[in-house]
Amino acid sequence: MKYLVVANWKMNPPTLKGAKLLFDSVKKGVKNVKSVEVVICPPFVYLKELRIKNKELRIKLGAQDCFWQEKGPFTGEISPLMLKDLGVKYVIIGHSERRALGETDEMINKKLKSVLSAKLTPILCFENLTQVRNGLKGISKKVILAYEPIWAIGTGKPCPPEKAKKIRKTLKEFKMVLYGGSVNSQNAKDYIKKAGFQGLLVGGASLNPKEFIKIIKTVVGS
Ligand code: PGA
Repeated sequence: MKYLVVANWKMNPPTLKGAKLLFDSVKKGVKNVKSVEVVICPPFVYLKELRIKNKELRIKLGAQDCFWQEKGPFTGEISPLMLKDLGVKYVIIGHSERRALGETDEMINKKLKSVLSAKLTPILCFENLTQVRNGLKGISKKVILAYEPIWAIGTGKPCPPEKAKKIRKTLKEFKMVLYGGSVNSQNAKDYIKKAGFQGLLVGGASLNPKEFIKIIKTVVGS
């Protein structure tokens, strides 16, 4: 099985030049990595340029969100079809930073359905099982989950692996569950080896190419 390591760049870096530099460093660092699928989710506006830089498709591209309609009068929104056209494979849905801005389980459910019907792979972020249940209402297709306790995101206080393991165990029917929240090269391995996750969703540490590559390599060695 291939592990999945996903970089969520959030609203970083502030320039295209910076995005290209970061992308190139990661690309170089993962040249010979085979047992891990590396996904970078940059801000939408960088996707096209990064796709051009990624001809060999060594790194998969992901988006941080999308809207549930295919097209139409929805100012400011981006549809799964547009993402697909740009070579995107994965879409993060229901990140807690979006939920904090008012995104509900109902909206998340519509987004998941729309991503699946565009034949993209959604990554549903959750922090409790109610969010998983509500988000997946009426969905039977393959969805990747990412357990992301809010208090662990961007705080430098990662969830203890034993605690995360309990959550992982309650989701046996899901083949691929990621852990996210203050992941770094020191703790990455514990979530795979001790807690039984199939990959990681990395925020802050993914903006530091050396650290991000170290994380990937520890997963390779797991
Ligand atoms: P963090 O973010 O690694 O900076 O805690 C994780 C996330 O928000 O996906």
